[in-house]
Amino acid sequence: MAKLIFNEDEEIEVEDGTPLKEVCEESGVPFACEEGVCGTCVVEVTEGMDNLTEFTEEEMDFLGEQEEERLACQCKIKGGCVKLSF
Ligand code: FES
Repeated sequence: MAKLIFNEDEEIEVEDGTPLKEVCEESGVPFACEEGVCGTCVVEVTEGMDNLTEFTEEEMDFLGEQEEERLACQCKIKGGCVKLSF
């Protein structure tokens, strides 16, 4: 099992390999295109970036080279703990 912590106060346990979209949507992150193009679903990863799947090409194009933000429609949690803020 993996653990997602939102904004320091909401904690959710999920299966390894769960798309972030599934849990983020319920927690109030807005989604629009769901294809990594619009940037509506951007979240800040405050801990556990290594526990998310690799950056997709769409994320690279939209976010550029950085280590803090992800597009929630594009990544899955591999396991362990990830802290997000949005
Ligand atoms: S919903 Fe458009 S980039 Fe994620």
